[in-house]
Amino acid sequence: MCGIFGYLGKSDAAPILIKGLKKQEYRGYDSAGIALNCDDNSLYVVKKAGRVSQLERAVDFSVKSCCGIAHTRWATHGKPSDENSHPHTSGDIAVVHNGIIENYQYLKDKLKNKGYKFNSDTDTEVIAKLIDSKYSSGTELIDAVLYAVNKLEGSFAIAVIARGVNEIICARKNSPLIVGFAKSGYYIASDIPALLEYTKKVHILKSGEVLQIKEDRAELTDFYGNKLKTEIKNIEAESSDSELSGFESYMLKEIYEIPASVNRTVTSNKDITDFLKNKKFNHIYIIGCGTAYNAGRAAESYIENWSKIKVTSTLASEFRYDTRLCDKNSLAVFITQSGETADTLEALKAAKECGAYCLAITNVENSSITHIADKSLFTKAGPEIAVASTKAYCCQVALLTLFAAGFAKAGGNNELFDEVCSELLLETNRISEYLEKQNVSILAEKYKDTKSVFFIGRGRDYPLAEEGSLKFKEITYISSEGYAAGELKHGTIALMDKNALVVAIVTKSDMVDKIVNAVCEVRARGAKVVVLSTLEVEARFKDISDDVIIVNGGKFPTIAAVVPLQLFAYYTAKIKGLDADKPRNLAKSVTVE
Ligand code: AGP
Ligand code: GLU
Repeated sequence: MCGIFGYLGKSDAAPILIKGLKKQEYRGYDSAGIALNCDDNSLYVVKKAGRVSQLERAVDFSVKSCCGIAHTRWATHGKPSDENSHPHTSGDIAVVHNGIIENYQYLKDKLKNKGYKFNSDTDTEVIAKLIDSKYSSGTELIDAVLYAVNKLEGSFAIAVIARGVNEIICARKNSPLIVGFAKSGYYIASDIPALLEYTKKVHILKSGEVLQIKEDRAELTDFYGNKLKTEIKNIEAESSDSELSGFESYMLKEIYEIPASVNRTVTSNKDITDFLKNKKFNHIYIIGCGTAYNAGRAAESYIENWSKIKVTSTLASEFRYDTRLCDKNSLAVFITQSGETADTLEALKAAKECGAYCLAITNVENSSITHIADKSLFTKAGPEIAVASTKAYCCQVALLTLFAAGFAKAGGNNELFDEVCSELLLETNRISEYLEKQNVSILAEKYKDTKSVFFIGRGRDYPLAEEGSLKFKEITYISSEGYAAGELKHGTIALMDKNALVVAIVTKSDMVDKIVNAVCEVRARGAKVVVLSTLEVEARFKDISDDVIIVNGGKFPTIAAVVPLQLFAYYTAKIKGLDADKPRNLAKSVTVE
């Protein structure tokens, strides 16, 4: 979690750092801070609980510095407060950190015994003090950092400066860190889009690398100081991909980008299963967190049907400690938009230990998962900035559906594969048409005071209901549940009364009668009902529900059906005056376990 930004060059550092933080604020927004190594040899540090805009108001932009580091935090250790904000300092040292130091208590006790006093509750402060404990006794900054990183356990991406020394030292163990090389200087960030305004030439630090950046050169080593060669990559994305482009929020913009991004994903993945040739698996695991997990479940039945191989979908955080029968005959598919989710990366390592073939499905080229998976396939959603995953989910479901059809192709059934491709592309046209005329904000206004919402569905609509619920609760803060419609009567129906809203989803004709039953049952207990369907069923539900939303869906209607659910969550949050792009307590990429 968290966004790190750093700059060393010839320009004024403070405005560049604030801009870099604003671009990465979606990664964490509990607090923000900057540290500048000033031209007058002083260290200028400002840090504030709250958003980057609050920090911006507190910064004195007349301070002269061309070298600094900055941080936007997602708190793991210690509440969001000024004291716990980064950068953390000790003597002449300032540090920003992304990750968790697991042995911080042990180190803290040792440093306390040496006389160090701690000003925060964070794990991070031990890093500053550890570096200082060497640096203050005359060790070079790079050697003091190397000393510290070898003492730290857990995950970290750090950037370090020292008063009066015009250099930045970065180090990475697990959490992401990227350095951009431009004529105007060196730029450090936690993600690539934040760098694109300045440069497309980047080095993505690998776990175990340290980069010492000076005015005229950057030197890469491992944690023991052994020299390594930087691998400068040219990034293709455009910086405008991460702008609002006239939309009122990123979430809405990204929902409107679904047709184009699904289209790109399908057309660029037509050779999706070439890697399956000459491989035999007896079990497929589909693993992810949150929305990525829901996407896996939405496509599970297609994969099982067409591969004829048993599929188990599981949460990454559960799989890590319960790998079941996973072995060298297993294919483990890891779904992650960011490619940086710590639970998913750890689950992948666990699958590797079992000998499984590990396939990553991710949206971010060169993300951490691509370096450890046996093979990576890419969704082409473009940068997803809003915390709530929308276009990425649709691209994941599309890619997984194509992947499922790839098994049929590998077995010689090319026709089915081609049909799935065309159907998925047709789906994008239907979504575009729906987006042009959608009026979900009216429903959101009507139900904005609801106290609890139940999203229900059966079969493939059950994971869709769970995704609708996740999206709704994460940005509206209204309690919601995704439920298997048939299970209501086994307990949850006790919660139905006039304060409850039920969103009943049906995309399969053989489920219509059963959903009619469920709707009648909850209505009889006073609940309000909105029916969402991709079928021509308005007549069946008109008299037994409060509202019916019909979206045109074809053979793979999950992608079309999720769009009104995403919009319902979005407009409800908007009407309640909430920031849909940055819901409380959350951050876009969860790089801690
Ligand atoms: C969804 O709206 C959430 N932001 C969250 O569940 C997310 O999908 C999850 O944290 C996994 O992220 P990833 O796809 O980047 O691995
Ligand atoms: N563990 C550190 C903290 O709580 C860093 C969290 C982050 O990655 O933002 O301050």
